Amino acid sequence: MTNNLQQQPAVIVIIGATGDLARKKVIPAMYQLVAQQVIHPETLIIGTSRSDIQAQDLIKGLTSHHDHPESLDEFRSKLQTLTVDPSDVASLNALADHIDSYEHELGQSVARLVYLSVPPSAYPSILDAIAASKLQNSSTKALRLLVEKPFGENLASAQALIAQTNRLFSEDQVYRIDHFLAKEMAQNILTFRKHNPLFSAVWNNQHISSVTVTTSEDDTIENRASFYDAVGALRDQMQNHVLQLLALALMEIPDTLTASEIHARKLQVIESLRVHSALRGQYEGYSEHVGHSSATETFARLTLTSDVAHWQNTPITLLTGKGLSVRQSSIEIVFGEDDNTNTVTFYIQPNEGISISCRVKKPGYADAFETTKLNFSYHKSQNRLADAYERVLLEALEGDHTLFASDDEVLAAWSVLEPTLHDWKTSRAGLVTYPIGSSAAEVSRKAMQNT
Ligand code: BG6
Repeated sequence: MTNNLQQQPAVIVIIGATGDLARKKVIPAMYQLVAQQVIHPETLIIGTSRSDIQAQDLIKGLTSHHDHPESLDEFRSKLQTLTVDPSDVASLNALADHIDSYEHELGQSVARLVYLSVPPSAYPSILDAIAASKLQNSSTKALRLLVEKPFGENLASAQALIAQTNRLFSEDQVYRIDHFLAKEMAQNILTFRKHNPLFSAVWNNQHISSVTVTTSEDDTIENRASFYDAVGALRDQMQNHVLQLLALALMEIPDTLTASEIHARKLQVIESLRVHSALRGQYEGYSEHVGHSSATETFARLTLTSDVAHWQNTPITLLTGKGLSVRQSSIEIVFGEDDNTNTVTFYIQPNEGISISCRVKKPGYADAFETTKLNFSYHKSQNRLADAYERVLLEALEGDHTLFASDDEVLAAWSVLEPTLHDWKTSRAGLVTYPIGSSAAEVSRKAMQNT
């Protein structure tokens, strides 16, 4: 079925195409956009790397899609590779010339997207070089830049990076990716809150007694040791995915869900947060994995409150970690206290859905109640759930900033974490180790006992 949403051809350049993120997320997402026929048929994808690079290597990871050989052939026909040094202006000029000749051959202008799939430490020199190159300067079409989180490594470096980006590019050229915002269930949070008066009327601290956001993973850091060890759980997911999910859960709902309204309301939430306690852990064997004695946390748990009037005194718990017992990202909203509670849980992934716990009479002679759940699952419907990276790429191609984080949100998120980042940098106190496969509750208990 043809579902061609995109009107204009584009050239999408992946800087760092041989890296882990490109292999696991970006290339498979581009393949899907081609296979689902949602991007313009003349769109060209250029995978670049500093070293020699072959298209064959980039599509190796797509073996699971071999059951659709025609889609793979089509994707292969749109994929080119080039050796590019992204911090060298001459090398980027050669890339720009290559795009110009494609445009010329096509006889129409193309949208230009450059995806920086590189570690954040590489951004400053790459951004400078792109801004000085023909990529930014010679085309009639404004370049769009997609940059990955974490944007910076603390408040000061994020401020410097944002100042640099704003000096070199206009704000609407830059798309700061937080792919959790593009997950189907993350988008459902606002829809659910906006269109169900049963809940929207009571979505405040008068009725909600606690909010918990969790991104738990059973995987370890696998082959990302050098990236992860410099980052840790707080920077890898708390600063971005977890705080963004919380912002969606607590933000005021504007009348119209435009990008700027949504960014402003999320910002209001993030700016209002204060951390009261922070726990951290590291899974056993981590230091051997990274090859040196490391204090990097693979688990973090924060308790916070918000200063916003209608959220004051509602306890907020944020949890993220690797090497845990389950892979599950969720938001749990508890209404009421003690025996009389309802919990609304958004299952962000896997098993995307919503569950609402209710108290009902226990059948029988006794006057007793029990808890039951009303469940909605996307997996019961026949619709394919698009991967978040497909959505991210599509939105950037469409020029829509709604599903990206604004620079103010990024800075506010760093501000929330600044005291914890500082404490954890200066001392190893409170860092517990936990066996791989522990539950988040077990690690939290252990870390609490250690404070
Ligand atoms: C990334 C983090 O942003 O998100 C990874 O860097 C994490 O550490 C990943 O594993 C989780 O994303 P997803 O979509 O695979 O759950």
